Amino acid sequence: MKKLIEVDNLTKVYGKGDSKTVVLKDLSFDLDSGESLCVIGPSGSGKSTLLHILGGLDNPTSGKVSINGQLLNELNDKELSTFRNKTIGFVFQFFYLQDYLTAKENVILPAKIASGNPSGVEDRAMELLRMVGLGHRLDHYPNEMSGGEMQRVAIARALINTPRLLLADEPTGNLDKDNADKVIEILDEIHERGVSVILVTHDEKLGKKFDTSFHVEKGVLVNNHPANQAKLGVLSNPDIHRD
Ligand SMILES: Nc1ncnc2c1ncn2[C@@H]1O[C@H](COP(=O)(O)OP(=O)(O)O)[C@@H](O)[C@H]1O
Ligand SMILES: [Mg+2]
Repeated sequence: MKKLIEVDNLTKVYGKGDSKTVVLKDLSFDLDSGESLCVIGPSGSGKSTLLHILGGLDNPTSGKVSINGQLLNELNDKELSTFRNKTIGFVFQFFYLQDYLTAKENVILPAKIASGNPSGVEDRAMELLRMVGLGHRLDHYPNEMSGGEMQRVAIARALINTPRLLLADEPTGNLDKDNADKVIEILDEIHERGVSVILVTHDEKLGKKFDTSFHVEKGVLVNNHPANQAKLGVLSNPDIHRD
């Protein structure tokens, strides 16, 4: 099967000298098209850093990331943002909806940014909002919705440009259990439809729902699952210093 993601010796270092922090070290793994991955670890373990690098929102210190056959470091800023818009959807813990736009307008926004006013976009936005169970909230503003509803709008928005890959950073972190379960159910359905989902979370339980899960401990990604052994490079990181 075609690889959607290839990560090769990825390293991210913040700071210099005494304040040097190695967040990711020599990390290598890949993901097949349509495959999903959960990265589990406590706060500060490098999950967001990894997700930002995979999504081209941040640069690695060294190493390579290829998405859908495209090496991210070969793109200039403009090419990268076009590529990102087309290929990757993002969902964050704090939704980041535009307060002055309705649910439907929020979902349409990335399509407008990518290609003006593409035909059929309004129908597609409504279809996505129905898919996430918000067919009755199309014209509501964020301040008229619950956290769970806002996150579902954010998921619909992430899908408007039909990405191959959805990156979700603690998407349930701000939700109660029922709403969190609903969000995970929706992510699972998106995966069923052929989109690769990468979710990072501190919640161990979420890993069970995914094809593959990695753990991050003391700042490094480690692989606790023998079945995944071949996928992950480095299992320990002696350089890491944390108080
Ligand atoms: N811009 C930055 N400058 C310096 N250190 C950072 C920066 N961003 C993150 N870090 C550090 O990198 C480590 C991993 O952060 P992060 O990826 O946000 O972890 P997580 O998402 O798992 O909570 C933390 O120790 C954090 O303080
Ligand atoms: Mg984080």
